[in-house]
Amino acid sequence: PSEDRAALLALAVEAAQEGGRAAAEGQAGIGVLDTKSSPTDVVTEMDRSVEASIRKRIHGIRPGDPVLGEEGGAEPGQGAVRWIVDPIDGTVNYLYGRAEWAVSIAAETGGEVVAGAVYAPARGDLYTAVLGGGAFCNGEPISAAPAVPLELALVATGFGYDAGRRAQQAEVLRAVLPRIRDIRRGGSASVDLCELARGRSDAYYERGLNQWDWGAAALIAQEAGARVGGLHGAPPNSELLIAAPPELFAQLHDLLAPLGADTDVPAA
Ligand code: IPD
Repeated sequence: PSEDRAALLALAVEAAQEGGRAAAEGQAGIGVLDTKSSPTDVVTEMDRSVEASIRKRIHGIRPGDPVLGEEGGAEPGQGAVRWIVDPIDGTVNYLYGRAEWAVSIAAETGGEVVAGAVYAPARGDLYTAVLGGGAFCNGEPISAAPAVPLELALVATGFGYDAGRRAQQAEVLRAVLPRIRDIRRGGSASVDLCELARGRSDAYYERGLNQWDWGAAALIAQEAGARVGGLHGAPPNSELLIAAPPELFAQLHDLLAPLGADTDVPAA
């Protein structure tokens, strides 16, 4: 049976708001609980407790749905909807008392994200979309900026936590920076994509993201008129995610592909 997308979005919004409120209340005085892939890849107590509360809320309404979360990993289930959850996307910003972080929740059916909510409580922004229904911020329709030529584009990006990968990302950036208007590194991939969706940047690219970073926000950017994908016609993926209005997507794609922006091996 086809799932009611509006109902899935409503559940994503409720869970994101509940988690986001708790995280916002606890932001002052938060500390590092643990590290993950490197000493700079941190996790706070709030990442874990917010993810647990989101899982509980989803399962309270839809027991049996599988959930993929940044902190708890993949929890299997027989349900028809897979939930993709990042409890705090932008954990380093969260730790430093900055506002650019968000709770991200996507609902996927048949391998396709059909509803997504990104809630950035410290900025007062709730971004939402259902497949085919447009994109919204706080209930108001949003749309990506019209495409500009690459040399006039404000391009957002981000970096992984691994030093070797960062060295390669710096090489790519060295080639990109002279070709564009300017670069932004916001610190939260989901907020970066949602900012693009409301015209606050022209394009975005990043290597090494996980599905919980982009699941909800890629749908929001797409519904706002951006093309979101990988290299050579691939769907958005961890090797490289590019988002921009279609004409600019093509230009950025053609700049990034020969630079080896999708690999950790330096271009020869
Ligand atoms: C990170 C943020 C950051 C991006 C990293 C992500 P996290 O997510 O989205 O902007 O550059 O690649 O890992 O770790 O804060 O959930």
